Amino acid sequence: MIHFDQVSKTFAASQRPAVDRITLHVKQGNICVFVGPSGCGKTTILRMINRLVTPDGGTITIDGRSIMQMDPPALRRTIGYVIQQVGLLPHRTIAQNIALVPELLKWPRDKTEKRVLELIEMMGLDPSEVGHKYPHQLSGGQAQRVGVARALAADPPIMLMDEPFAAVDPIVRLRLQDEFLRLQQTVQKTICFVTHDINEAIKLGDYLVVLKEGRLVQTGTPIEILTQPEDDFVLSLLGDDRGVKILDLTRAETLMEPFENRLGPIKSNGHRVQSIDPVKIALEMMMQKNTDEILVCKGTRPVGILRWPAIKTHVNRISGGTV
Ligand SMILES: Nc1ncnc2c1ncn2[C@@H]1O[C@H](COP(=O)(O)OP(=O)(O)OP(=O)(O)O)[C@@H](O)[C@H]1O
Ligand SMILES: [Mg+2]
Repeated sequence: MIHFDQVSKTFAASQRPAVDRITLHVKQGNICVFVGPSGCGKTTILRMINRLVTPDGGTITIDGRSIMQMDPPALRRTIGYVIQQVGLLPHRTIAQNIALVPELLKWPRDKTEKRVLELIEMMGLDPSEVGHKYPHQLSGGQAQRVGVARALAADPPIMLMDEPFAAVDPIVRLRLQDEFLRLQQTVQKTICFVTHDINEAIKLGDYLVVLKEGRLVQTGTPIEILTQPEDDFVLSLLGDDRGVKILDLTRAETLMEPFENRLGPIKSNGHRVQSIDPVKIALEMMMQKNTDEILVCKGTRPVGILRWPAIKTHVNRISGGTV
């Protein structure tokens, strides 16, 4: 859907490119997460997609059409943008903030009002409580939700989200991430999401793009990047708990010994997980219950047994014995 081909940008008065020959593809309906340290070019990449920054090399196409052939205001109407510092207009109420793009598009007033109500509710907020408030009267988490609602207002197929959850405390952030994933199941947007938090990237991304100093270091699904990090930079970005992160993305059924066609009774210590549960959950259960095996079930039907040595062997194999 969105394609970058050798895209570069060097800002005036700058020695090195902010973005250096990036080639990548963002699939329709996917969450593509750009992750990397401060200054690696994440915001610049997003702002090139909606033409707030003009690349000085390469091409960006959306559905096969170069964005340089599109009228910038028309292009921006098809792209929702949640900026790094929320950016709600202080003198407009929450409802008026969300109505911004529908108003620009000259939607009839009742259509806009209906959409605003729908979005406030979609964000888990109460329209009668927050609709008439001003941005400074909201909590950080509420303001972030309103920022997302505003970007979704005109139902654009593409969303650009620049560290949308960075300004809130860790607990609210986890909740916003869960809400965001649930929301995406319904809205199915093509999303370019920027973060410098690797945990957030792994949790939210269908596809990750790891950047360093404007260059693309590695792309792939979270499990591909976790299990096959390209170099020491990616390895250090993934952190010391890489093994635990892998077990969080590995289903119990992939490491269990299956009970194929087994007819007799199954001995069990009563501890069980579901086959699609992360191995990490089984591991936590093993530690809590002081046992080294857990029954794996599909619903109520036992389908296999997960043993500690299988987990250990798996982690050692993918991490080269370092975890
Ligand atoms: N308008 C600008 N003029 C000049 N240089 C800029 C401009 N915008 C960004 N830069 C430079 O380009 C590089 C990339 O900046 P960018 O904002 O894309 O980084 P980032 O990855 O989003 O960082 P952060 O995580 O801190 O938001 C930086 O070195 C920055 O100083
Ligand atoms: Mg940035």
